[in-house]
Amino acid sequence: MRPSVKKTPSLDRFRLYIAGVLALAVLAALVAPNDEARSIEKAVAVGANACAECHTKETAIWKNTRHYQTFSDMPRSKEARRIAGKLGIKRIKAAPLCLGCHFTSQKKRSRTRVTAGISCESCHGVAQNWIKLHSEFSGKPNKKAETAAEAAQRWKQSVAHGMIRKDDMYGVAKNCYGCHVVPNEKLVNVGGHPAGSPFELVSWSQGQVRHNVWYNNGKQNALAGTKRRRLMYLVGLTVELETALRAIAVATKFEDYAIRMAHRADKARKAMLAAAKRLPDIPELGSIVEHAHAAGLKLNNKKALMAAADKVAATGKVLAARHDGGKLAAIDPLIPGKSKYVGEPSDSN
Ligand code: HEC
Ligand code: HEC
Ligand code: HEC
Ligand code: HEC
Repeated sequence: MRPSVKKTPSLDRFRLYIAGVLALAVLAALVAPNDEARSIEKAVAVGANACAECHTKETAIWKNTRHYQTFSDMPRSKEARRIAGKLGIKRIKAAPLCLGCHFTSQKKRSRTRVTAGISCESCHGVAQNWIKLHSEFSGKPNKKAETAAEAAQRWKQSVAHGMIRKDDMYGVAKNCYGCHVVPNEKLVNVGGHPAGSPFELVSWSQGQVRHNVWYNNGKQNALAGTKRRRLMYLVGLTVELETALRAIAVATKFEDYAIRMAHRADKARKAMLAAAKRLPDIPELGSIVEHAHAAGLKLNNKKALMAAADKVAATGKVLAARHDGGKLAAIDPLIPGKSKYVGEPSDSN
C-alpha cells in the first residue's frame, strides 16, 4: 500500500522542541560519545596529481575551489586554532578528527602524509584499485575498439573497486553530506566547530565545484541539465534527511549539536513534504516523508532513528534509480536558481 502524503503528521518546531526537552529531561546521556559519526573514513589516496595526467581541466577547476584552498588556509586560521585548542589538538594536519573532512592523505615513502585538501578521491572514491581499470579500455588500444559489453563490464568493475560515478547520484551526494552536515557531536559541542553548512545539492554543486568538462572534450564547463537538476534536488534532500537522522541518533547531550541536527532534519522533512505535494504521482516522495516522521527527533532514540534513516536511504536510492527528472517538472519553482549557486563556476577555456 502506498503511504499518502496527507496522513503524514507535520511536526512544527514548537512540538519538536517540547518533545526534545521532555525526552532530554527524563533521559540523561546514556550513549557513549561517538567520534566516528562521519560517514566517510578516508583511506590512503593516490592523489590528484595522478588524475591530472589525463583530467587536466578538472584539476585546474578544482584548484579554484575552497576544497583545494582549505589545505593551506584552514590550519592557519584563527578559528582553526581556537577549535583545535578546545579539543587539545596540537597539529591539525596530524589530527585524525580533522583529516577525514579537510584533507587527503597519501602514502609517501612508507609514511602516510597529508598531501591536499578535499580532492578528487574525496568525492569519487579512493582510486588505488580502480584508476587503471576505469581508464584503460578493457585492454583495447582505444574506446572505439572496446565493445559496449566490455565497456559496461569495465564500469561495473571500477565501481566494484570503489569508484563513485556521476550516475550514482545518491552515492555522490552521500559524500558531500557526510562532511557538510558535520555529524560529529564533540567537534561541535566541545570544539565550537560550525554545526554544518547550509548545504543544498544543486546550488552547492553547480557553482565553484562544477567540472562538467570531460564528456564534451573541455568545450565548456556545462551546467547540469534541467532534468538532472530536478533529481539532484530531491536526492540531495533525501541524503540530507538520512544524514541528519543518523546524526541525531548518535547525539548524547541536549546542546548545540543535537538542536542543530534536529533542526536540519525537520527543515529537510518540510522541504520534502512540499515536493511530495507537488508530485503526488511519485510515491517515493511521500514514503520518504513518512519514514522520516517514524522516529522522534530526540535523544536516546538511536534504534528508531537509524531504522528511519535506513528506510529513507533505501527509498531515496529507488527514487534516484527510477527517475531521470523528465516527470518532475512540478518542483521547478522549488529548485534554487543561478543566483543561489555557491561561488563562480570556472570556465575551462
Ligand atoms: C590514463 C588517463 C586517466 C587517468 C590517470 C584518470 N582518468 Fe578518469 N577517465 C579517463 C577516461 C579515458 C575516462 C572516460 C572513459 C570512457 O569514456 O569510457 C575517465 C572518466 C572518469 C570519470 C567519469 C566517470 C563516469 O561516471 O562516467 C571520473 C569521475 C574520473 N575519470 C575520475 C578520475 C579520477 C578521480 C582520477 C584520479 C584518481 C582519474 N580519473 C584518473 C582517463 C583517466
Ligand atoms: C565532519 C566533517 C568535518 C570535520 C571532522 C571537521 N570539519 Fe572543519 N569544516 C567542515 C565543513 C563542512 C566546513 C564548512 C562549514 C561551512 O559551510 O561554514 C568546515 C569549516 C571549518 C572551518 C572554517 C573555515 C576555514 O577554513 O577557516 C575551520 C576553521 C575548521 N573547519 C576547522 C576544523 C578543525 C580544526 C577540525 C578538526 C578538529 C575540523 N574542522 C574537522 C567539516 C568538518
Ligand atoms: C566536491 C566533490 C568532487 C570533487 C572534489 C571532484 N569531483 Fe568530479 N564530480 C563530482 C560530481 C558531483 C560530479 C557529477 C556532476 C553532475 O552530476 O553533473 C563529478 C563529475 C566528474 C566527471 C565527469 C564529468 C563529465 O564531463 O560528465 C569527471 C571526469 C570528474 N568528476 C573527475 C574529477 C577529477 C579528476 C577531480 C579532481 C581534480 C574531481 N572530479 C574532483 C564531484 C567531485
Ligand atoms: C571530505 C569532506 C567534503 C566532501 C566530500 C565535500 N565537501 Fe564541500 N567542503 C568541505 C569543507 C571542509 C569545506 C570548507 C573548506 C574551507 O572553507 O576551508 C567545503 C566547502 C565547500 C564549498 C564552498 C563553500 C563556500 O562557502 O564557499 C562548496 C560549494 C562545497 N564545499 C560543495 C560541495 C559539494 C557539492 C560536494 C559534493 C559533490 C562537497 N562539497 C563534498 C568538505 C567536503
